[in-house]
Amino acid sequence: MRDAGGRLTYRFPFSPFPTGWYVVASLSELAPGALTARRFMGQEVVVYRTRAGVVCLADAFCPHLGAHLGHGGTVEGETLRCPFHDFRFDTGGVCVSTPYGHAPPGAARLRQWTVREKNGYVLAWFDAAGGPPTFEVPDIPVSDAWSAPWSEVRVIRSHPQETTENSVDVGHFSAVHKYTGFETRTEMVTAGPYLHARYSMLRDAGFSGRAGQRLRVEYDVHVHGLGWSFVEARVPELGLESRYFVLPTPLDGEHVEMRIATTVRSPEEPGRISPFLRLLPVAWVRAIIGELTWRAFRGDVSQDLEIWENKRYIHPPALAKGDGPVGRYRQWARQFYPENAHAEAPRVEAAQAAPSPIEVAPAAGAVVAPAL
Ligand code: FES
Ligand SMILES: [Fe+2]
Repeated sequence: MRDAGGRLTYRFPFSPFPTGWYVVASLSELAPGALTARRFMGQEVVVYRTRAGVVCLADAFCPHLGAHLGHGGTVEGETLRCPFHDFRFDTGGVCVSTPYGHAPPGAARLRQWTVREKNGYVLAWFDAAGGPPTFEVPDIPVSDAWSAPWSEVRVIRSHPQETTENSVDVGHFSAVHKYTGFETRTEMVTAGPYLHARYSMLRDAGFSGRAGQRLRVEYDVHVHGLGWSFVEARVPELGLESRYFVLPTPLDGEHVEMRIATTVRSPEEPGRISPFLRLLPVAWVRAIIGELTWRAFRGDVSQDLEIWENKRYIHPPALAKGDGPVGRYRQWARQFYPENAHAEAPRVEAAQAAPSPIEVAPAAGAVVAPAL
């Protein structure tokens, strides 16, 4: 957003970089020995995987004389090698060798971020004050019955608090997504950094190949901080189960990298969906249902995008009966801004160099394939 002088201004009355866990890569992008440069929380970083398989996220600039490790740096065994003077750093950030034949300087410490691998994704912990993790993201149980995900990465102008608010903004489900028959199954509950809400709605059943028919879908929304949320969806009438992931990661003060993914469970009775499906191998049924589910989910997110990218954050909002627990959600979200919750909005000059508003990564379904 620009002011009258054409300067980019910050849109939100809170930090662009809330505390929490955020996805920085999918494991499938990182073969052993791979290294890639990223922007993360307004900083330059490199994400890489050692030959033994350890995934690391490190500051991009070498502590020796400042070379960018994403431009010529290489993974050598279990170390990261700087291209400028050949210093090598272990997975703890310690400089373990130089080519000079002397002990490496103790001050040559490369910052390594705290990372976790969850359901095929690499998450990094961010705390502006540099504190250690104060919560963990749980593993989501999977089995052979669950498909590999359909997934996509986009860069959008938004904020993780805004995109996650979408899951409690029940009014927009009908206005934007054309769902009907909204029901709250359980009131939104929170426990520290975790938020859980349960709804059910009627939606067009195109995801099951029955376009034009409306089916009731039950949703369980699970949010762990502002960077990791997933929704369990069930269609009792057809015995269908699917999961939707919405994973926003701040890049700079203006943009988030938004990963979305869908995975579906093999239906136990495909004949309930369509007599035709009963004739097909289970893997085919799952592939068909998964593709249709993915298209529907991707379509829903596309409907949100234009609103997210252009909206203003209203605080306090003019809430109406029927809005859902938006106010309680915003109260809950304040915990992720320990130092500057609702402080005066900062200017973000760095956003001048931000990427173009929407960049869709390579073809859908081929972008990332974490084993969820
Ligand atoms: S700048 Fe990295 S080794 Fe000198
Ligand atoms: Fe939405």
